[in-house]
Amino acid sequence: MKILLGITGGIAAYKAAELARLLTNRGHGVRCVLTEAGARFITPLTLASLTGEPCYGANADHHEWRPSPSVEHIELARWADVVAVVPATANILGQAANGLAGDLLSTILLATQAPVLWAPAMNTAMWEHPAVQVNLERLKVFGHTLVEPAEGMLACGEEGAGKLADIEFIADAIRAVGSPRLPTLVGKKVLVTSGPTREDLDPVRLLTNRSTGEMGIEIARALRDAGAEVHLVLGGDLAAPYGMETTRSRTAEAMMGACAGLWPGMDGCIAAAAVADQKPQSVAAEKGKKGDGPENLVLVRTQDILMHLGLQKKPAQWLLGFAAESEHHLENAQVKLAKKNLDAVFVNDISAGKGFGHQANTLTPVLAEGPQAPLGPLPKDQLASALVAWWAARVEP
Ligand code: CTP
Repeated sequence: MKILLGITGGIAAYKAAELARLLTNRGHGVRCVLTEAGARFITPLTLASLTGEPCYGANADHHEWRPSPSVEHIELARWADVVAVVPATANILGQAANGLAGDLLSTILLATQAPVLWAPAMNTAMWEHPAVQVNLERLKVFGHTLVEPAEGMLACGEEGAGKLADIEFIADAIRAVGSPRLPTLVGKKVLVTSGPTREDLDPVRLLTNRSTGEMGIEIARALRDAGAEVHLVLGGDLAAPYGMETTRSRTAEAMMGACAGLWPGMDGCIAAAAVADQKPQSVAAEKGKKGDGPENLVLVRTQDILMHLGLQKKPAQWLLGFAAESEHHLENAQVKLAKKNLDAVFVNDISAGKGFGHQANTLTPVLAEGPQAPLGPLPKDQLASALVAWWAARVEP
């Protein structure tokens, strides 16, 4: 993706350097446009060194800046797949909301047809001022995306809203805004389950598994990028991704409750959660003491969420599941597909150290007519995109 990163004059400008590096390391082409005020906080050399691209701007005092030919703003506006302004000051928001074009960045913002994303950072009183809020509303009407600032300790010493959002979260939002859509998934409501469940034994002990939830989160991101409206039901501790409703669920029962409630309103579901198949028969109110004799844990079965969704599935809905298998992979997957009334099962071979927690993974899709060509081996984010593209090519528009 070609990302034009506009950096304006706020103390959070130093964080834009980190963002430029993150995006470059993820394989994106990143070109920075620094305003005069931005250049008081961070140098063009920093940004050019991190991105391997020239840093653009319009400050004649900085001899290392590229001289600006008159059509540079148009060239850059056309080059970008997405324009992101991080951090955005009240001044640049005001300029863009009112069509003012006084320097390179503001002219690019007027000239570009690429999606535009704003990550503002400023003092709380400025952020809450009606002038800024009205400008933001205008920018939203133009179709621009806003990554809201976080609350926290600000450079001015005050505590409140106005802190630049988390850099990883902004990078995720840029990816969501700049990705090409997949027509069969645009506007589709998709439920994704992800992560481990946790079943308490007592106030300090619990039963869980080694799933991180990363794969399901990457699938949710890939669906979002494709244009789907995603609702993520998430176990574990990983941060919720940008641009989707996320319901946190701790236990199999809580995950079941969330999914059962959401499923009737969904077009499809991908169940990637590692749900506990058993839970302790009872949860002790106090921390259990070690006894003298042998001890046994009594477990009872949890409900199978995917099976429940399969039973409730309407003809227009689609349902995809996973099978983590260590033997007879494809035969077991075919049985699971029929038993749970699924449209496809993705088989994850967990024998020989593959699967949980490993970087490169392979998934074999299994349909009613049989196994398909494997997807991967790929890192989880790329594998998730391959999975979503594979399904998007099969799903009815
Ligand atoms: N799953 C679920 N609810 C459960 C258990 C599993 O929704 N209580 C879903 C998982 O999200 C996954 C699929 O079922 O998509 C397959 O789970 P897996 O652990 O491979 O196998 P099981 O179906 O539990 O069957 P078995 O343990 O017999 O292999």
